[in-house]
Amino acid sequence: MEKLSREEAKKRIEWLRKEIWRHNYLYYVLNKPEISDAEYDKLMEELRRLEEMYPEFITPDSPTQRVGAPPAKEFKTVRHVKPMLSLDTAHKEEEVEAFDKRVKRELGVDDVEYVAEPKLDGLSVELVYENGKYVRGSTRGDGINGEDVTENIRTIKAVPLVLRGEELPIPRMLAVRGEVIMHIDDFERLNKELIEKGEEPLANPRNAAAGSLRRLDPRETAQRPLDIFFYEVMLVEGYEIDTQWDALQALKKWGLKVNPHIRKCRDIREAIEYHHEMEKKRENLEYEIDGVVIKVNRFDYQEKLGVKTRSPKWAIAYKFPPRKEETQILDIVVQVGRTGILTPVALLKPVDVKGVTVSRATLHNEDYIKEKDIRIGDWVRVARAGDVIPEVIEVIKERRTGKEKPFKMPSRCPVCRSKVVKEGAYYRCTAGLSCPAQLKRAIAHFASKNAMDIEGLGSQTVDMLVEKGLIKRLSDIYKLKKVDLLRLPRFAEKSAKNLIEAIEKSKERGLARLIYALGIPNVGEHTAKILAEKFRSMDKLMNASMAELLSIKEIGPETAESIINFFKEERNRKEIEELKKLGVKMEYEEEKGKLKGKKFVFTGSLKSMTRGEAKAIVEELGGEVVNTVSKSVDYVVVGENPGSKYEKAKALGLKIINEREFKKLIGMEEEEEKIVPLDKFIGEK
Ligand code: IVH
Repeated sequence: MEKLSREEAKKRIEWLRKEIWRHNYLYYVLNKPEISDAEYDKLMEELRRLEEMYPEFITPDSPTQRVGAPPAKEFKTVRHVKPMLSLDTAHKEEEVEAFDKRVKRELGVDDVEYVAEPKLDGLSVELVYENGKYVRGSTRGDGINGEDVTENIRTIKAVPLVLRGEELPIPRMLAVRGEVIMHIDDFERLNKELIEKGEEPLANPRNAAAGSLRRLDPRETAQRPLDIFFYEVMLVEGYEIDTQWDALQALKKWGLKVNPHIRKCRDIREAIEYHHEMEKKRENLEYEIDGVVIKVNRFDYQEKLGVKTRSPKWAIAYKFPPRKEETQILDIVVQVGRTGILTPVALLKPVDVKGVTVSRATLHNEDYIKEKDIRIGDWVRVARAGDVIPEVIEVIKERRTGKEKPFKMPSRCPVCRSKVVKEGAYYRCTAGLSCPAQLKRAIAHFASKNAMDIEGLGSQTVDMLVEKGLIKRLSDIYKLKKVDLLRLPRFAEKSAKNLIEAIEKSKERGLARLIYALGIPNVGEHTAKILAEKFRSMDKLMNASMAELLSIKEIGPETAESIINFFKEERNRKEIEELKKLGVKMEYEEEKGKLKGKKFVFTGSLKSMTRGEAKAIVEELGGEVVNTVSKSVDYVVVGENPGSKYEKAKALGLKIINEREFKKLIGMEEEEEKIVPLDKFIGEK
């Protein structure tokens, strides 16, 4: 090749990059490559050579710069721009129909359009693009904070480092969610290599994808064949999108790979039909999917429906029936749960079900065993559906030898020998919290992360404390002394001190968590929150009438009855009194709900905090941040360089506030800063 001048080289480099980006788009997004792999490699080679000659022209978004970052010591934590929610799941058609009914009822409309997508079995990630450039990538983590895997994601070839601006304007900011996956044949090849190298093979493509992405050295990630599909716009600034379908189309145009099997469905029937079709197609796909995701198409509908604690009310994962494996029941034992229910559990000859070794499976109750005629010694098919406990699906009767033994539920609690009563399909130990098994589970639940969050009080420690007689009832937790702990085998000065401190701290968790922690049957986290908001104090809740409970939209008769029964028990009322005396806070924290029910839209950038931080504060105070301006929005917070949302807000006559006013609203201290009149502030465009 002839020698190029510096200027010519710069031009050529720019041309090569654009050309490579274009071919990436043709290959990954449109699946219509125009050139062969060899021709593509030649372009890359030329670019690499020119950049070597003129390193001053290297930019981080150059296709040659995917790998290069040094290994990290650990992953930093990053806050997502918006919580990364998970999905409610359905296994049956009726559940999906019920979902559709609820959606229509809550929206007050007869027709709702859906978007149906494959539910990819991989690892969920958030990618952020600023002015079209890839700047950050993170794993889902706990949904609020994730691990910063920016450099690892950069190595995935299907991830564009620069968005395309040919068909749509490039957004100032785009946060997008996708799923990192590994193709089945790549997974098998990788496992073969690992085995040859004498390393442990990986359990399944999902674990392989997760493990590969989370290597501390991005160069190792680059060696792993990872792929990605994008499916959710989490935040976009500088471009308006109104529906999930349009979001997916926009993603494609920006060069972000979207799954080709997505479908717009006119109604829920079409979505169900889609599920059946995908179940058939599943066997021929190159990657694993474990169901389909059905989402309400219109964003204004999505906003109106809102979210629960961890999942949106506008989407549902409709799972495929789980895959099954065969194994033998070695024995059947009985477990005593938190509420005293006896559950028969099959002990199995260990078997691998989709990458997880299963050695126990629930048999639910006596009826289940009878109906399926399950006996000790039987060969059975077991299945595992996601995080659900493995289940015995059916008995392989042809394999019976005649030596199998039928099973009978015990008439006394296997743990405390108390009498057992039959309630419907279930048997229950009548001893309540004086049964050590129930007490242990109740305490472990009380201390668990989403309840009172007492670090260091896990189930093993709880078991020990109950067995040593140090905890006989819930309130005993708050009577523990350091000296008591120090006498136990697993505690030393520091761990004992830490646990005592964690217990002390848990007194401040607030009413909602406390209600959940009590373990009232049928009262989950979400219901507990609603009860706390509605009654605002434990005393009021304890004395609530059936009618009062039933007047709450989300509470049905079964839950209401559970609550009434729970507080009718003298023992429970006494325990609550005792907890109060010991300093456990039982009032609803007013401040927390200061912005309750208020909807915020942000446009433009804030000086003193990031979008993510502002959003977190609003949510902490009970408010909600939405992306689209509509009449239902209470405040439009306008920062520097606001987008079209500002115009729209003005047109709708919404309340518009600047950063200072926003900070005042959230009770943040005024910083010393010049007061800029709102109009001027906005005029800085
Ligand atoms: S939507 C609020 N769409 O399934 C939107 N999720 O619990 C929530 N997943 O963690 C996600 N394919 O990792 C969505 N097409 C798809 C998906 C999908 C796979 C995963 C995602 C999430 C889990 C659901």
